[in-house]
Amino acid sequence: MTRKLSLFAPLALIACAQAATAATLDVIKTPTCGCCSAWVERMKAAGFTVKVRDVEDTAPIARAAGVPDTMRSCHTARIGGYAIEGHVPAADIRRLLAQKPKAIGLSVPGMVAGSPGMEVPGRSDRYRVMLLKADGKHSVWATHGGQAEVHRH
Ligand code: CU
Ligand code: CU
Repeated sequence: MTRKLSLFAPLALIACAQAATAATLDVIKTPTCGCCSAWVERMKAAGFTVKVRDVEDTAPIARAAGVPDTMRSCHTARIGGYAIEGHVPAADIRRLLAQKPKAIGLSVPGMVAGSPGMEVPGRSDRYRVMLLKADGKHSVWATHGGQAEVHRH
């Protein structure tokens, strides 16, 4: 019994360490970006531990993370070895960390009204969260919003 315990205890410790690392969102943004701070607040509210670093220009950070210029947004974050570009919903990040696809990360290109941190009263534009692949291609990870379209006649 003592042998069993000594075998399993280190495994439990490793699992805990990995969970703690995966839950920390490292956000790199510009100091004047209001919507970036709003997104950070949404991620904290969703349960992520967030570390924020301000830089004058996020473009080199995004490029180094493997985010193509066409997939750029206002901030770049890192979590669990993935890049998170722009106003990506927390649920999509959680699914990424759970499913662990072979990819660079996720992106919501541009700035979409109705995405987390970009709330506009009465407006919810349809937008897609992209899964960025290492070969520069991307696929749709999730689709959100679009109430305005649904109610149009
Ligand atoms: Cu923004
Ligand atoms: Cu931002």
